[in-house]
Amino acid sequence: MSTKEDKPVEHKTTWKDSIYNPRTGEFIGRTASSWALIVGFYLVFYAFLTGFFTLTMWVMLQTLEDDVPKYRDRVPSPGLVIRPRSLDIIFNRTNPKQYGPYVRHLESLLQQYNDTIQEQNELCMVNEYTEQDDVAEKKVCQFKRSLLRQCSGLADATFGYAEGKPCILVKMNRIIGLRPRGEPYVNCTAKRDTPLQMSYFPTEAKFDKMYFPYYGKINHPKYVQPLVAVQLLLAKEDYNTEIAIECKVEGSDLKNDDDRDKFLGRITFRVTVTE
Ligand SMILES: *[C@@H]1O[C@H](CO)[C@@H](O)[C@H](O)[C@H]1NC(C)=O
Ligand SMILES: *[C@@H]1O[C@H](CO)[C@@H](O)[C@H](O)[C@H]1NC(C)=O
Ligand SMILES: *[C@@H]1O[C@H](CO)[C@@H](O)[C@H](O)[C@H]1NC(C)=O
Repeated sequence: MSTKEDKPVEHKTTWKDSIYNPRTGEFIGRTASSWALIVGFYLVFYAFLTGFFTLTMWVMLQTLEDDVPKYRDRVPSPGLVIRPRSLDIIFNRTNPKQYGPYVRHLESLLQQYNDTIQEQNELCMVNEYTEQDDVAEKKVCQFKRSLLRQCSGLADATFGYAEGKPCILVKMNRIIGLRPRGEPYVNCTAKRDTPLQMSYFPTEAKFDKMYFPYYGKINHPKYVQPLVAVQLLLAKEDYNTEIAIECKVEGSDLKNDDDRDKFLGRITFRVTVTE
């Protein structure tokens, strides 16, 4: 029975001692100098960690450019877009009120391709990338709207719409650092049994390599995208019916048959002309 009486006493002592033991001067099992060492160690340790983290972050940020994603496993393929910005182009060719918005849209887009403005840009080497990684002031390769001939809006201010032979401008979305391999060109086909006559401007419907790579909005502010115009040479029997047209970028390594993205390197739109 005596052991039963002793136990609570022992327990009480141990509990008290574990906080502060006056005999050894230990506080929670350690002496003051031991505590000082531990606190000192952790202070230095965390100061070092903080410093190391900050330094690493700083070095990392120094190597990043403002508008270029640094780590990409590959440069993605661009989407194809058309102007006028509509996938359903419908108009009565004898009614300027109906095709007016399309024509004004094309005209405003082509303002920046004005020959007099483009003459201030560089004449670049045909079929060669305009590499300028190490150049601070990136030059811009000229693309004059007059290259688009009948679709330039210069000779025919209605871009063929009044004639029932509408021009559609095709361009690729801008992708920083894209260098298409091969010779990308636009190929449009009518999705019907009988082929539809079309003209392309510039003649080979090419997106010349000279317009690549693009260096981003900040580094390359005056960059102009190359354009391809396709004129649909509709005849009388093509009026009053909806014609689906698919344009693809071909002749290069750019993707144009992705199952999940039907705008990657291609675009399908519908045209209905009435009179
Ligand atoms: C574009 O060029 C035409 C002449 O070719 C000129 O009349 C017009 O003012 C120019 N537009 C701009 C925005 O410079
Ligand atoms: C354009 O595409 C059509 C249909 O895919 C094909 O038959 C034709 O050969 C292509 N034209 C050119 C110039 O690649
Ligand atoms: C097209 O416009 C003309 C003149 O504005 C009109 O006579 C004709 O009926 C229109 N055609 C259609 C299919 O709306």
